[in-house]
Amino acid sequence: MPSTTMLSKPELRRQMRNQRRRLTQPQRRQAAAQLLHSLRHNRHFQYSRHIAVYLTNDGEIDTGPLIRDLQRRGKCLYLPVLHPLRQGHLSFLRWDRHTKLVKNRFGIREPVFGRSRSMPARFVQLVCMPLVAFDQQGNRLGMGGGFYDRTLAFMHQPGQQPALLGCAYDWQKTTALAAEPWDIPLSAIATDQRLYRFR
Ligand SMILES: Nc1ncnc2c1ncn2[C@@H]1O[C@H](COP(=O)(O)OP(=O)(O)O)[C@@H](O)[C@H]1O
Ligand SMILES: [Mg+2]
Repeated sequence: MPSTTMLSKPELRRQMRNQRRRLTQPQRRQAAAQLLHSLRHNRHFQYSRHIAVYLTNDGEIDTGPLIRDLQRRGKCLYLPVLHPLRQGHLSFLRWDRHTKLVKNRFGIREPVFGRSRSMPARFVQLVCMPLVAFDQQGNRLGMGGGFYDRTLAFMHQPGQQPALLGCAYDWQKTTALAAEPWDIPLSAIATDQRLYRFR
């Protein structure tokens, strides 16, 4: 991996995403198992009942083992859905084995939108989210759409707040990312190597 210190955000995104797509299947499988291992004993992971997860896309670290572990523990799981009315926002929809999934405009599978199955983000206890790069202060670089930032903007104010967990390969760590005022920092990041906790 070349030094990522001086790269612009678009260039950093491009390099990280390319690197991610180049991993082999055995590397992906091993990292996914290790990701779960890093998280297993975390109290948010163990005790949260309402947990938002994501389905792996674009070479992101595979959440399969993590999701199966949560299903075995009987957690209520939610998936992000592009909000049909609030542009640039996500909605978290209940996901169980009966939920029909369809591809959204980014080619990511999501539940069919229905208000009755939507959970307000502030009542989700743990939100697991993908990222393109992170730093050791808990700053997150996403794909550039700002979807999680907008959806979680209520966290700028005090009140009930979910724990935010980024999931990534450990090599996605970079030196300090310049956080923008709208960026919502993460509470923790789990990688194939370890769990980073912030604040
Ligand atoms: N709370 C928000 N309100 C309005 N616009 C936002 C908000 N959060 C993010 N954005 C917009 O989304 C765009 C992408 O955000 P950015 O943080 O660069 O992406 P990402 O978090 O996906 O890496 C920015 O141009 C920013 O203006
Ligand atoms: Mg952001």
